[in-house]
Amino acid sequence: MKLDTRLETAASFVREGAVFADIGTDHAYLPIALLLRGQIRCAIAADIASGPLQTAREHIASCERDGVSLSDRIRLMQTDGLIGLDTAEPAVTDIAVCGMGGELIAEIVAQASFVRNREIRLILQPMTMQAHLRRSLAEMGFFVETERLCKTANDKIYSVICCHYAPENVHTPTETEEILGRELLRDAQDFVLRSEYLQQKKQSYLRIIEGKRSAGHSCDVEKRILAEIESHLSKDGMPL
Ligand SMILES: C[S@@+](CC[C@H](N)C(=O)[O-])C[C@H]1O[C@@H](n2cnc3c(N)ncnc32)[C@H](O)[C@@H]1O
Repeated sequence: MKLDTRLETAASFVREGAVFADIGTDHAYLPIALLLRGQIRCAIAADIASGPLQTAREHIASCERDGVSLSDRIRLMQTDGLIGLDTAEPAVTDIAVCGMGGELIAEIVAQASFVRNREIRLILQPMTMQAHLRRSLAEMGFFVETERLCKTANDKIYSVICCHYAPENVHTPTETEEILGRELLRDAQDFVLRSEYLQQKKQSYLRIIEGKRSAGHSCDVEKRILAEIESHLSKDGMPL
């Protein structure tokens, strides 16, 4: 089963042999693909709503292959966020929360004290409010191992955050790092994609500044962020 680039990027962070949980699983694309590849031991496919779980059940049945029984190895669970996963057997090692707003993802993580465990890897893919999620993760003591960009078929650029609990290693992000993603600026990223990402951020800040100016509001903060975006672009040798 082929995943789209967004879910493929999330899948790339799941460790070999993981006991995997996919929160907000919808079609259960991630658990099915990871099991068919032999990348994980077993999975919990969790969702708050019964409709997506029914879709997941049907999708799992339609992907059964000779020799790989998916329904034996994917447990469907109707739950809010990570509630009830603390007592799962075997214990989960890798958790994905993808395709939701950054605020909801931060709430889901905050409400589950059992994930404050350095052995558990979180793979988070916010559709919105990325800066809020990065700030919340740092405040809760989650260390971002890496963050990677991906571009969807409709040309939207998202990032996937891979982190674990390690308060002693946490770097408190600056305002600009919260917005841009510190690891996206530091890591060896796809160079062309990062430039496109920075260009999109630049255009969005130009629009915000223009809007604030015409409304007679101060836009000093946005101008400072714009200057930092331009500085990263010029470091990459990109035309401003
Ligand atoms: C947009 S879909 C994302 C599906 C998949 N994870 C992806 O990234 O393609 C969001 C899913 O999250 C589920 N969801 C929303 N809030 C949730 C919560 N608090 N706990 C668990 N699932 C939730 C929704 O029912 C829906 O199936």
